[in-house]
Amino acid sequence: MAKHIVMLGPPGAGKGTQAKRIAEKLGIPHVSSGDIFRENLRNRTELGRMAEEYINRGELVPDDVTIAMIRDRLSRPDCRDGVVLDGFPRTPAQAAALDTILQEVAGAQVDIVPCIRVPESVLVERLTGRRSCPRGHVYHLKFNPPAEPGKCDHDGLELFQREDDTRETVTHRIQVYNQQTQPLIEYYEKRGVLVNINGDQPIENVSAELFAALAQV
Ligand code: AP5
Repeated sequence: MAKHIVMLGPPGAGKGTQAKRIAEKLGIPHVSSGDIFRENLRNRTELGRMAEEYINRGELVPDDVTIAMIRDRLSRPDCRDGVVLDGFPRTPAQAAALDTILQEVAGAQVDIVPCIRVPESVLVERLTGRRSCPRGHVYHLKFNPPAEPGKCDHDGLELFQREDDTRETVTHRIQVYNQQTQPLIEYYEKRGVLVNINGDQPIENVSAELFAALAQV
């Protein structure tokens, strides 16, 4: 089964939701660039303070900063045998850097890029209704509610709404995706590693389609 996996898709497509399931099933780390930025933001690190203005505006954090952060994470021993990347790469420069990093740290390459497709109209409802746990677990008020309102099922922590999940910022993030990240679809398609996944169906069905695709590699 594929072990170096890049999740692609617009904001709200379900990359994080599915990446967690893949990581659990395959026993590999889930590396989310957004989660790492948010953790730094909460801890008021230099990186967090720098990234904050970009994230809250729905813009991408500059490539050099993001690439250095991911290089550092992928260099840790737990990523050597596989990783599911969520939110990285997001620009052609990041995709090229990822190829180099994987080769350097693990002698590996990207095995498969599931691209989760969801119509834009659905994305806005998903993101404005999302509630998140500080440890990265994700819920939706309507589509995936926690057992106890406002509390994470896994660790009981209080759920919050991300600052960039307002309707206005969500709309801008989708535009940024269309302009800056869409080109990666062609990049990975040419390499023969892209697999389209229908994300506009219940979470369980998306997972089933994904695992079937991963089993082919
Ligand atoms: P990031 O955290 O990566 O956000 P994103 O890509 O916009 O993706 P999301 O986390 O919003 O959505 P998702 O696809 O993971 O969906 P989820 O599973 O949560 O990035 C945030 C910011 O950080 C960026 O804007 C940028 O500033 C910065 N950043 C991060 N990486 C960067 C990079 N590489 N370069 C530069 N800057 C970077 O699901 C969404 C909701 O839908 C949830 O409520 C969920 O429960 C629900 N849901 C999921 N699947 C389904 C389904 N099948 N049916 C119904 N509901 C569903």
